[in-house]
Amino acid sequence: MEIVIVPDGAAIGELGAGIIAELLARKPAALLGVATGSSPLPVYAALARRVAAGEVSVDRLRVCQLDEYVGLPADHPQSYRAVIAAEVLTPLGLTGDSFLGVDGTAADLPAACAAYEAALAAAGGVDLQLLGIGTDGHIGFNEPCSSFGSRTRVKTLTARTRADNARFFDHPDEVPQHVVTQGIATISEARHLVLVATGEGKAEAIAATVEGPLAAAVPASALQLHPHATVIVDEAAASALKLADYFRSTYAAKPAWQSL
Ligand code: F6R
Repeated sequence: MEIVIVPDGAAIGELGAGIIAELLARKPAALLGVATGSSPLPVYAALARRVAAGEVSVDRLRVCQLDEYVGLPADHPQSYRAVIAAEVLTPLGLTGDSFLGVDGTAADLPAACAAYEAALAAAGGVDLQLLGIGTDGHIGFNEPCSSFGSRTRVKTLTARTRADNARFFDHPDEVPQHVVTQGIATISEARHLVLVATGEGKAEAIAATVEGPLAAAVPASALQLHPHATVIVDEAAASALKLADYFRSTYAAKPAWQSL
C-alpha cells in the first residue's frame, strides 16, 4: 500500500486525475469504478478540466458504479446512477452508454447483484477503482464486519452512515436503510485501488485502515492485502497516522520512473 499525503482536496484531485489520465494513455477503453459522496469530487472535476483542455481523451472510457441505494428510482437525484451521471458522465461528455450499473429497484435484488458481477467480469474487470472511506471504515457500502470474501449483495447501512449521508437528503429519514454494494472481494479484484480521504473526521478510519490490524471490523483494512493500493489523503485525514513522516519522505524520494 502506498500512502500519499498532500495539502488539500485540490491536490488529491490533481493526483487522482493524473492516475486516471495515465491509465487512459495506456488503455483507452479502461473500466473505471467510481465512488460517490464528497471525497472523489475534486478528482472528477480535475479530470473534466483535463478532458476539456484536450489533454486526456475519454472517448472509449467505461464507468461503473460501486454501490447503489435500494429503492431509489434511477431518476431520483440521490440515486447513485443519477449522481454519477451528473458528477462524472456529463462533465466528461459521456452518455449512459458508457455506464455499467446495478439496479437498486429490481424486484429480485440477489439476481440483480449476480447480474452485475457477471457484467463486470464480461467487461474485463475494473482497471481502477476509486474509493472513499466512511467514518466507520467502510468502502463501498461494506459496513463493519463485512466479510473480506463478500461479493455484490444487499447490505444494511449503520446509523452512523445514514447520519453521515443525511446531508444529501431533505430529511434524515429519507436516507435508505438498504443498499446494494460490490463486496470486498469484488472490489479487491480491481487492478488498482485508489482511496481518497479528506478532513479530520476520516483520520481515525485512515489510521485503522493503514496501520491497524487486518480486520473485518475495518472493511478498508482489506486494502492491506491488495497488490496495488494507493491511499491519497490530506493533512487532516493523515493526522492520526503514526508513520506519517515515513510516508511523506517515501513519496518525496519516489523514483521518477515509478508511477503511482
Ligand atoms: C459511496 C461510497 C462510500 C463513500 C463514503 C465516504 O459510493 O463508496 O463508501 O465513499 O461513505 O463518503 P464521503 O466521501 O461523502 O465522505
